[in-house]
Amino acid sequence: MAFAVHYRTHTCGDLNKDAIGQQVTLAGWVNRRRDHGGLVFLDIRDRYGVTQVICDPERSAEAHRIASEVRSEYVVQVSGTVVPRLAGTENPNLSTGAIEVAAEHIEILNPSRTTPFPISDNIQVDESLRLKYRYLDLRRPSMRENVILRHRVVKAMRDYLDERGFLEIETPILMKSTPEGARDYLVPSRLYPGEFYALPQSPQQLKQLLMVAGLDRYFQIARCFRDEDQRSDRQPEFTQLDVEMAFVAEEDVMNLIEGLLIFLIQKTTQKRIKQIPFPRLSFSNVMDRYGTDHPDLRFDLPLVEISDLARAGNFGVFQGALAANGTVKGIRVPAAGSYSRKEIEELTEFARMLGAKGLVSLAIGPAGEVKSPLIKFMSHDEVQAIIDRLQGEPGDLLLFVADSAKVCNDVLYRLRGKLAERLNLVDPNVMALCWVVDFPLLHFDEEGQRYEAEHNPFSGMDEAHIDRLDKDPLNIRARQYDIICNGYEIGGGSIRINVSEIQKKVFSLMKLDEEQIKEQFGHMLEAFEYGAPPHGGIALGIDRLVMLLANEDSIREVIAFPKTQSATDLLMHAPSPVEEKQLQELHLRVMEEDS
Ligand code: AMO
Ligand code: AMP
Repeated sequence: MAFAVHYRTHTCGDLNKDAIGQQVTLAGWVNRRRDHGGLVFLDIRDRYGVTQVICDPERSAEAHRIASEVRSEYVVQVSGTVVPRLAGTENPNLSTGAIEVAAEHIEILNPSRTTPFPISDNIQVDESLRLKYRYLDLRRPSMRENVILRHRVVKAMRDYLDERGFLEIETPILMKSTPEGARDYLVPSRLYPGEFYALPQSPQQLKQLLMVAGLDRYFQIARCFRDEDQRSDRQPEFTQLDVEMAFVAEEDVMNLIEGLLIFLIQKTTQKRIKQIPFPRLSFSNVMDRYGTDHPDLRFDLPLVEISDLARAGNFGVFQGALAANGTVKGIRVPAAGSYSRKEIEELTEFARMLGAKGLVSLAIGPAGEVKSPLIKFMSHDEVQAIIDRLQGEPGDLLLFVADSAKVCNDVLYRLRGKLAERLNLVDPNVMALCWVVDFPLLHFDEEGQRYEAEHNPFSGMDEAHIDRLDKDPLNIRARQYDIICNGYEIGGGSIRINVSEIQKKVFSLMKLDEEQIKEQFGHMLEAFEYGAPPHGGIALGIDRLVMLLANEDSIREVIAFPKTQSATDLLMHAPSPVEEKQLQELHLRVMEEDS
């Protein structure tokens, strides 16, 4: 048989009853070996599936001898005949479960050491070990499925946009810094001592320039680089579906992306979309109601402000916060009125960890009786007014935080998520998407004593608000839209500024002087003077989107070779020192770290 020419006739996922009687050759990894006295069974695995091989010494003593030698993860090639499995030994969960291959010839193509963890799902193993041996980790079925899902999502994005006339255009990785609010990764130039390229935080400026170029509808599966603190939903390099369109308003971009997301979810998962069209919520409403601009809408549990009601009585905790210009906000926890003291203390501890000074509880008994520190300091009616505001019912628990609006929001936002989990309100099969709109264009940064763009400095603004650039910059509404799914910001974009003078004004509010504006953004301002069409776009975070589609809770699970939380690559060992010669070529000297 021509082994060396053709490694395999079929994959390990191909064979079923129709193939019975055929001569086949498979190649793959030994998933499992079972020695049943005379017979040896091998499960051979590849990307496509698992096929059982039966090695009977009566059929081939040689194949049986080799099968007895192989161990898990050996790469083998098996030739034999497809035969039906014995009645009662079929495996209906496997596409190949009705047959097995009776081995006539086995060859070991490459042996394997014992792997540092089993190649199977549901393993309890430190993530750093998985990352160090990522090529083994990726052999596990769940990781393989994630890689395949990601491919399908990106392919579907390309198809969807291609059908709608979008052009996929690559933009450089070695470029000039384009601010998205994070630190840049810099690349020293060998040819120009002391000068640097920056890796793109996003292709923002270039996609806008492509609109000036008249290319009208652009997209790119774009790698972005941001040197910022890592979290489970952040990586130093990540991938966006980056989109830009000319001659559009908000509706055009939002409708396009809404259609795309529905298409992707329906094409690649069984998940149910909670509401179509996606609700559009204003920034200030979501902040009030959920304490965050990326709320999880799979469950309700709204935050409710009671500052006005908290003024009544003489409860020190409330009075203190209000006197300091603070806020009092609460949340109703349905059917939690019977939480024990210990449970409430745990929640209070959680709130303290997040920066609250404490948590005021109010439990409503089955007959409406109220248990709370409040009742000592407020009248029955005053307490009742608070209960009514939160729509409290017998059996409920109400929890309150009194602090600055920011602390109230931060704490109750996290508490809301924790309670939803605890109360089992999160349906893993639901995708709850919403748009957040009506963001302020700018906020004031006390530390730097300057205005900063809420998103990026290129976001356009409400026509009617343009004259506020001079007198009331904090009250300008941006033409910005974020798309949120299950509590994650999966994308954001805006209709842009396309007028040089207005763009200049925004930069000067950010305290950039003429010289800096010219040096950093002169090319943009100049481009806007050569016929820049009205334009806008968006970028979706592909890693986050695929994470949600895959039901994972870290984007590292859907990136083939991610970095750790501390931005290191454990497989290739990056970052790492380089040769002195390389540094010299780059005109660099490494400073000793002061200890
Ligand atoms: P923005 O900075 O909001 O917008 O990024 C768009 C989306 O990219 C994802 N994302 C990340 N994913 C993983 N790791 C990170 N470190 C990370 N940072 C962002 C998020 C986010 O919503 N140029 C603008 C887009 C535009 O205005 O068109 C931009 O980059 O899901
Ligand atoms: P104390 O007056 O510190 O004994 O607190 C009385 C109760 O109020 C305790 O249950 C605290 O957890 C809670 N508490 C204290 N400060 C705050 C605050 N700023 N917001 C909400 N609860 C608080």
